[in-house]
Amino acid sequence: MQNYMKLELAALSENESFARSAVAAFALPLSPSFSDLSDIKTAVSEAVTNCIVHAYKGGEGRIVIECRIEKAPRGGILHIVITDYGCGIEDVEEAMTPFFTTLENDERSGMGFTVMQTFSTFFKVESELGKGTRVIMQKAVGM
Ligand SMILES: Nc1ncnc2c1ncn2[C@@H]1O[C@H](COP(=O)(O)OP(=O)(O)OP(=O)(O)O)[C@@H](O)[C@H]1O
Ligand SMILES: [Mg+2]
Repeated sequence: MQNYMKLELAALSENESFARSAVAAFALPLSPSFSDLSDIKTAVSEAVTNCIVHAYKGGEGRIVIECRIEKAPRGGILHIVITDYGCGIEDVEEAMTPFFTTLENDERSGMGFTVMQTFSTFFKVESELGKGTRVIMQKAVGM
């Protein structure tokens, strides 16, 4: 049987460290390197922060994190899907451009998606305006 987990969280900033630690802990059976773990934590952290600050703009909301392990002869692939039901993104391609941000006046640098993309083996964003956003990441671990 393939291993998986599903986590639903309130969109609160205090849940960000829990979310990234939970996903990292789930990946442990794949014997990830310190650097793999650090990449996973950073990517999850960026995705969850985006749900809180952009999708729900600090208001009420829920975030669903689904993880699945696809085993390989050595190590495997960690699949991570992070979903919100917030405002959605009008132009995903533009949003993924390095330094693009819609929160310029805050301390946002517009590098979240770029960081997620850099730290994952496969990366994709699906979004529908008014419905929400789904970030799909894969990370090859211990391979
Ligand atoms: N889950 C989401 N829901 C709605 N809009 C989003 C979501 N995630 C990202 N965005 C939009 O995409 C833009 C780029 O996101 P990205 O994470 O790259 O940068 P940022 O969050 O603005 O800044 P940083 O991540 O560097 O603090 C955001 O400014 C926002 O407009
Ligand atoms: Mg961001």
